[in-house]
Amino acid sequence: MSVVCIEFKPGLEGVPATQSSISYVDGQQGVLEYRGINIQELAKKSSFLETAYLLIWGYLPSKEELESFEHDIRYHRRIKYRIRDMMKCFPETGHPMDALQTSAAALGLFYSRRALDNPEYIRSAVVRLLAKIPTMVAASELMRRGNDAVQPKDDLDYAANFLYMLNEREPDPLAAQVFDVCLILHAEHTINASTFSAMVTSSTLTDPYAVIASAVGTLAGPLHGGANEDVITMLSEIGSVENVRPYLEKCLETKAKIMGFGHRVYKVKDPRAIILQELAEKLFEKFGYDKYYEIALELEKAVEEKLGHKGIYPNVDFYSGLVYRKLGISSDLFTPVFAIARVAGWLAHWKEQLTENRIFRPTQIYTGEHNISYTPIQER
Ligand code: ACO
Repeated sequence: MSVVCIEFKPGLEGVPATQSSISYVDGQQGVLEYRGINIQELAKKSSFLETAYLLIWGYLPSKEELESFEHDIRYHRRIKYRIRDMMKCFPETGHPMDALQTSAAALGLFYSRRALDNPEYIRSAVVRLLAKIPTMVAASELMRRGNDAVQPKDDLDYAANFLYMLNEREPDPLAAQVFDVCLILHAEHTINASTFSAMVTSSTLTDPYAVIASAVGTLAGPLHGGANEDVITMLSEIGSVENVRPYLEKCLETKAKIMGFGHRVYKVKDPRAIILQELAEKLFEKFGYDKYYEIALELEKAVEEKLGHKGIYPNVDFYSGLVYRKLGISSDLFTPVFAIARVAGWLAHWKEQLTENRIFRPTQIYTGEHNISYTPIQER
């Protein structure tokens, strides 16, 4: 018997669309857990690849399992020269998220054997996507600058290798460690827009490269992952601590959203924003201050005063850009970097979706007319 829910919820707010054991958010208490483990603890004790394993396979790997996973990812980092050649043809003015979406989809052309009931296929797709997405992000960035892509360096860990491929030099150990924590923090966040997009695509039993490409396209929007880039633009427009309050007043008057604030679920400061702020301060201590930080602190204070009663506090995107700037990552790469991490969560949901799949096919409330007769073009 099919049950029809007649209450329409714009944005599906509060409507459960799946059952999942991957992550949990308590938006009132500011708690985020991956497979039951608090994000604070993972940020302190885990690595991104261990966290990815936890998310995708549901448990913390043994030493041997982790070593084998890391080994396989390390040796699948290279991308085919045809993919590099394809990327060379991308326009320099194109957005890196569009380049990433195209490249992720292109992987499906090269690894097209689809065997969703074969655990070996699932593992190899997981390994390939986690291994190759960072290489593609770094390669397309270097090519955009008119340089050749840098090959991955096998003796570097996941995070250090990405910064190496991007900045063409080995990173400081603190920078690599901070970046690894950023990846952990962005790896998963229940069924937000891009994860839902990944799940809908997964439910058609298409290949995992199409799943990731559709999720990347969804993450790109300014109301989702794209907000981290807009935060830096906003801080630069504000320009000075003195201008924070006049800027905020103007936003409130015109009902413009303040980027990096507010969240559908969190009604307190996002726990990831708290950790990212600590990471930013660590980087400033070692590599020098960022003038935007003072503006950000003042803005946080002012927004709390004006909008705290509505539960509007900094979200994950507010401080991440300040961290990335210190790591030498340019602002239009912030969202692709977010995607590098979120591939872990998308893959976890892909795998979970496959275990009890039913194609997503919601219903609609029709608001159009009926029995309208066709008007010939001459009479319109
Ligand atoms: N600035 C000012 N007011 C805000 C903000 C904001 N950033 N966010 C929400 N509000 C206000 C709205 O104006 C609205 O007020 P009203 O009830 O008086 O009309 C109320 O809070 C509810 O806002 P909605 O937009 O309905 O909340 P929703 O849950 O749909 O949106 C969203 C959440 C999209 C994140 C929103 O807060 C927003 O646009 N923030 C700015 C963009 C951003 O930072 N996005 C990143 C989110 S985190 C992520 O995706 C990784």
